[in-house]
Amino acid sequence: DKAGHKHFMAKEVAEQPAVIGDALGHYLSADGRDVVLPGTTLDFNRIERLTMVACGTAYYACLTAKYWFEQLAGLPVDVDIASEFRYREPPITPGTAALFVSQSGETADTLAALRYCRDKADTILSVVNVDESSIARESDLALPILAGPEIGVASTKGFTCQLTVLLLLAIKAAQVRGTMDEEAVADLLSHLRGLPAAISQALEMDEALQQAARHLSEHDHALFLGRGLMFPMALEGALKLKEISYIHAEAYASGELKHGPIALIDKKMPVVIMAPRDALFDKTVSNMQEVMARGGKVMLITDRAGAAVADEGTWHLLVMPEVDPVLTPLLYAIPAQLLAYHTAVAKGTDVDQPRNLAKSVTVE
Ligand code: M6R
Repeated sequence: DKAGHKHFMAKEVAEQPAVIGDALGHYLSADGRDVVLPGTTLDFNRIERLTMVACGTAYYACLTAKYWFEQLAGLPVDVDIASEFRYREPPITPGTAALFVSQSGETADTLAALRYCRDKADTILSVVNVDESSIARESDLALPILAGPEIGVASTKGFTCQLTVLLLLAIKAAQVRGTMDEEAVADLLSHLRGLPAAISQALEMDEALQQAARHLSEHDHALFLGRGLMFPMALEGALKLKEISYIHAEAYASGELKHGPIALIDKKMPVVIMAPRDALFDKTVSNMQEVMARGGKVMLITDRAGAAVADEGTWHLLVMPEVDPVLTPLLYAIPAQLLAYHTAVAKGTDVDQPRNLAKSVTVE
């Protein structure tokens, strides 16, 4: 049931404020000042290293979480693509927690990676949407993301609910390891509780994104750029776009522009830049100017403060609500999804069942 939407993807995008709210309700204490995890198997004081493994969009959730675990909790993190990890057979040092992220909980490579870690890691954690899945069952601690069934092949609410649970886990790690004090935790959690409202606001940008998407749909290629927490969002935006609209899209960390991809820039190349006005904003703006100086068409997704100083010469300017810098990935996932969605609709492709793809990749 698409609940009045044209596609499951549109329905699932629209559900995000509600399902993220559900996930927060599930993991936050009644006073909202503490993260409560089920079970007692996980002790972040004992853990020295976190290895995160996944495929596709779930892998980008892990890449995002790396910034959170490192910056909030001072915990060293490795992130790996499951199909690489399982055959490379990396050494797992004592004190390593292995964390597997999978919407379906049945992805063959992720499951094989989990089994490789079984007798090697200190503890096996998973972040899954399907409670009774193989990955959940074979974990010491499976944390549900509570997104509800995701039907569209393109992961949307699954991704943002994964991010929500991973952020809560990073905050818990920070609290236990003493890298964030009680007040800092309560403060960040209170911002997090305001996130569903900010996402609802971002969803209202639908019309502006639809217009931008119509123009994007006339191109064969696109680049996505982002720095810091926006780098994984750029990767996610590019994956969403190619997956459902079949437009060739690549994402780079903004700082990599000069190391190759800038050669691709000409007036036929749209460049989607995601950049809230944070500590890295000025650096990204200078990358944006390099793109514009070579005739590239910049679609800048930023907030009001960013738009106030960097709107000149952009092809499209999309202005997002302002949120705490730690929370920006959860918000900027929305325009990434909607841009891909409306581009696919403009091109008339099969949004929910893109060619050659399966919802759950249970064979290699
Ligand atoms: O079920 P999983 O989260 O393990 O699936 C992983 C990927 O196959 C999945 O995220 C895929 O990349 C999506 N179709 C992306 O939208």
